[in-house]
Amino acid sequence: MVNDFKGLKRLLIENIKENGPISFKDFMALCLYEENLGYYSQDEIRIGKDGDFVTAPHTSKLFGYLLAVQIRQFFEILENKGQELSIAEFGAGTGVLAGDILEYFKRFLKEQFERLRYIMVEPLSKRREVLKRDISRFEENIKIVDSISETGRFKGVVIANELFDAFPVHLIEKNEDEFFEIFVDVSGNEERLVEKALKIRDDALKDYVETYLSHLPNGYRTEVNLEMKKWINDLSSIMDEGFCLIIDYGYSREDYYADFRNRGTLLGYSRQRVTEEYFEYPGIIDMTAHVNFSDARLWFEQAGFVAEGFCPQWAFLGGLDIEQTMEKAFGRLEPFSPILASVKSLIFPQGMGETHKVFVASKGVEKEVDLKGFKMKNDIGRLT
Ligand SMILES: C[S@@+](CC[C@H](N)C(=O)[O-])C[C@H]1O[C@@H](n2cnc3c(N)ncnc32)[C@H](O)[C@@H]1O
Repeated sequence: MVNDFKGLKRLLIENIKENGPISFKDFMALCLYEENLGYYSQDEIRIGKDGDFVTAPHTSKLFGYLLAVQIRQFFEILENKGQELSIAEFGAGTGVLAGDILEYFKRFLKEQFERLRYIMVEPLSKRREVLKRDISRFEENIKIVDSISETGRFKGVVIANELFDAFPVHLIEKNEDEFFEIFVDVSGNEERLVEKALKIRDDALKDYVETYLSHLPNGYRTEVNLEMKKWINDLSSIMDEGFCLIIDYGYSREDYYADFRNRGTLLGYSRQRVTEEYFEYPGIIDMTAHVNFSDARLWFEQAGFVAEGFCPQWAFLGGLDIEQTMEKAFGRLEPFSPILASVKSLIFPQGMGETHKVFVASKGVEKEVDLKGFKMKNDIGRLT
C-alpha cells in the first residue's frame, strides 16, 4: 500500500507550529524514514521499470554476478581459509542484489557458498520484514539486522549500492556572501510547507562550508552529506579487516561543486519522473542527492581505511571477466537478445555506465592489492 502523504504533512505542520522550523536535513529524514509514514517505510518500495526509479540490480542479474567476481577476489586476498566468509550489505532494498550474489556463489563457488554468511543491514522494520519474505530461499546463509553492531566485530566484505544517495543532506544556499542553511517552515495560513533560510548553527556544517565552499558565488545552492561521515565512522568502529565496495551516482569534489551545478543535485523521483513536489507530497516521493566521492575518500581515510580505487561503473564491471560472467548468467545469447539491452544499461554512458561510480576502500589489509575491477581504469587520484 502506498502511504497517505496527508498524515506526514499534518505531522510536519503541527511539529513546526509547535517547535519552529526544522532543517531540510531533518525534513528529508522524516520524508524517507519516519516509521509508517516515510517513503522507505511503505509496504513495497517501487524500484524497477514500473516503479519510481531503477537501480542496477533491478536492471540485470549480471550486475550481482559481476560483483560476485570481485567479491571472490576480495576473499582470496583476505585468505579466510576454512573459515566463515562474511558479506554485509547495507540498504539492500528489495534484496535482489543479495539474491544474485548468493546465486552466483551457489552455482559456481560451492565450497565458498557453504561458508558464506550474508548479513543484510536495514534500519527500517518494514524493509526487514519484506526482505525476510523475499529472500527466504537463502534463509540458511542470511541474517537480517537493523545495525551492524549486532553482529560483533566484522571481518569481510561490505557492499552498498545506492545507499549514500539516500542519506538526508543539509541544503545550503549562498546569499550576500554568506551561506545559509535551508529550513522548512509553514506558510502564513499554516497550510503549506515553505522554505526558510537561516544562519548556519551546526558546527560541523559551518566547518565544512568554510573549508570547501567559501569560493562559491552568491545564489549557489548545494547539499552536504554529513551522514556519510557518521556511517563511515560507525563502520570503522566495528570493522577489523576487509573491503568496502560503494556504488552510487556522484562526482569528485571539483565536479560536484562546479560553477554550472549551482542548483545542486537534490532530486525527487516519482514514477520515473523527476519532481520537486516533496513539500506537497512528503513521504511518497523518493528524495536523493548525488554523492561527493572526495568526501567519501577523505572520511574513509580519516577513519583508518585505505582508498583502493575509484572509477565509472562501466570500467569496473568491464574488468570483471565480463564475457565469461555473461555466459554464466544467461548462457549463449543471440545477437539481438533483449537481455543485451539491459546489459547495455549497466555499461553504456546513456545508462548507468558513466553516471554511477565505484569506490573501494580496504581496512587492515597489510599487502598491496591489484583489484580486478580497477584493471581498466583507476581515477582515485581525482578524489582530492
Ligand atoms: C535507494 S535504496 C537502496 C536500493 C538497493 N540497494 C538497490 O540497489 O536496489 C536505500 C535503502 O537504504 C536503506 N538505508 C538508509 N539508511 C541506512 C543505513 N544507515 N544503513 C542501512 N540501510 C540504510 C533504506 O531504508 C533503503 O532501503
